[in-house]
Formats: sequence, structure tokens, C-alpha cells
Amino acid sequence: MTVHSPGRINLIGEHVDYSGGLVMPASIDKAIRFEVTEHPGRELALTALDLSENHTLSLPVTGRTGTRWVDYLAGIVDQFQQLGHEVPGLKIEFGGDIPQGAGMSSSAALEGGMAFVLNELTGAGLTRPELAQLCNRSSNEFLEIPSGIMDQFASLNGSAAGPIQLDCGTLEFQSVNAELAGYTWLLVNSMITHELSAGEYHTRVAECREALSVLQEEYPALRQLSEATQVQLQVVMRRMPENVSRRARYVVAENERVLEMALALSRGDVRRAGQLLNETHAGLRDEYEVSCTEVDFLQRHALEHFPDAVAGARIMGGGFGGCTINLLRDDRIEEVKQYLRHVYRKKYGITPEFYPVNIGPGTHLV
Ligand code: GLA
Repeated sequence: MTVHSPGRINLIGEHVDYSGGLVMPASIDKAIRFEVTEHPGRELALTALDLSENHTLSLPVTGRTGTRWVDYLAGIVDQFQQLGHEVPGLKIEFGGDIPQGAGMSSSAALEGGMAFVLNELTGAGLTRPELAQLCNRSSNEFLEIPSGIMDQFASLNGSAAGPIQLDCGTLEFQSVNAELAGYTWLLVNSMITHELSAGEYHTRVAECREALSVLQEEYPALRQLSEATQVQLQVVMRRMPENVSRRARYVVAENERVLEMALALSRGDVRRAGQLLNETHAGLRDEYEVSCTEVDFLQRHALEHFPDAVAGARIMGGGFGGCTINLLRDDRIEEVKQYLRHVYRKKYGITPEFYPVNIGPGTHLV
């Protein structure tokens, strides 16, 4: 059995999934491919082709192994076990072309692909949204990473037809047309992954929970931070520590921006779409504080040097490095790339990588 499991990009709706907010991700053409065959005995013979590493995982899974890539897979096995399914002995080889640490969710592709494989082989019959929820539980419980559901959901439910607008509170989603005449979406990889990201991610999740609990004292009906309005936030803001209120302001504004982006895209309004990206970047940089100087540099230089070609740019994904996503005129791509390569190398001695956003199908059997 061969399974294709893609990475994802996100147009807008960053750091709101774990607050039940709206996001606009897409599955992309970069993916992990799993080759799965029968294997004797109660074990999984695993090979990570890109790392040239092997690991034999005994079944049933009883806990973490301490090797990250193995644990992403083991966590999925653990979830199927918890649902009462017996995972058979298997030989699993996987590898792919999703850049690591670039904010394109290679780990969600790993989880989603494994979940898809086990769903097929155990006959569990889970739907794609259910598989995404299973992957999310695995991240939260087995790996103890408090991430939201966006990445796994986008990888499993994405479509080559375009991005989806997903409500992370209800898991309702619809497809979105992100094509803007004469413009294209470009990723610029800062090639930076700051160690900070894991700890700070936990902190942001905790800060959002704190903001919600303060809001709930006044508005007990609120279930998620993203449901709060600006007005409600204003009322209780003083009861929050300053950092917490700043995070909450960002989340509420970002949720509104996703709706505005949907409108701008449907109208073909490039200017507004670009402004929204820039506002998200400013929010992630100043209020949510998950950017970094290298990524800010790439974002700022794209905008300042090409005011007539780059409509907008922002940091994408979990933060503290990774890629910017840029909306720019398609006849100026080469020029923008050349300039950014030059100034970024000069400033940081690092050569950035560029990837066109090619939206591709969600997880599937090959
Ligand atoms: C990471 C997490 C996602 C989401 C993004 C930020 O990719 O895995 O759940 O929170 O960061 O939007």
C-alpha cells in the first residue's frame, strides 16, 4: 500500500486553531509518501528514508520511545489501540519533500499519513475529520504538544481545488478560491528554526486559556476565546495581565480577519487581501510575539522594496522562524526572489529558499 500525505500552507488564521477560531489552510504538493507492506510478528519495522534511520516498534505501544519521529507514529498506533483496534505487524518506509522546520507541517503529514494507513488496514472506518481529531489527540496526549487541529485537518481534508476555510470549533469547512488574477502566493523560507518555539507555543496556549477564563467570569456562555467580540474583550481586559490581554486582542482580531479575507478573495480584492496579511504579521509580531528578527526582515524588505508588486506578506505557521507567505504580482516573482536572496544573505549569511504555493490533494492512496 502506498499513501501520499501532504504538508500544508495557511493563508490566514494563525495561532487561533487552539482557541476554536477560523483558519484558511491548504494541502500542498509537497508530501510524505508511505510504503507499507506486511511484516511478520507483533512489531512495526519503521524506516525514515530521509534520515536513513530504522526503528523496530513493539506492539502494542505502551508509551513514548524518546525518538521524535517514531513517537509521532507510535502516538497514532496508541490512538487506534485505545479505540480497540488491533494494529498488525507492518513494514513502513516513508520519506518526502516537505522542508523540515519551515512551518509546512511535516509532522502533521507524518501523523495523518499513519492514521490513514491504519484506518485502511484495521478497517476502523473513521472519516477524514475523525482521523484529524485522532491525530490531534495523539499530539496533545501522547506527545504532550498542545497544538490545534489545523495542520492535520488540512493535510487529511485538503483538496487540489483550493484552500479551505475551517472553523476549528465546529470542524465545519468549505472550499475557498484563492486565485487572484495576475498575482501569486510565494513562500520564502528564512531557514531559521528557533529552539524557543516549543516552550513559547505552550505558553501561548496557556495564555489563551487564561484569557478565556477571565472572559467566562463575565460571559459564562463563551466556550472558546475566538467567540469573544472586541466589545466583550474591552469590558474585561483590565482584569487580565497585560500579556494575556494582548494575546486575546490578537486572537479576536485574527478571527475577524479570516472572514474579511474570505470576502476580499471572493471580490478579487488584492489590495485588501494584502493589507490583511500585513495586519496579521504585525499582530503576530507585536501582540502575539511569535515572530523573530530574521522573518520580520524578510517580510519588511519584501514590502518596502516592492510596494507596487508585493501586496502583502506575513509569517506563516507556528512561528519563531519558518516561512513568510507573500502575495505578489506574478510577473515580478524573479525580481523579488533575487532581491530577497541578496539582502538576506548580506545581512544573515543565509540563503533563503523559495517555494511557489502549489495546492495539492489531501491524503490519499496512490
Ligand atoms: C502549528 C500548530 C497548529 C497551529 C499553528 C499556528 O503549526 O501545529 O496547530 O497552531 O502552529 O497557527
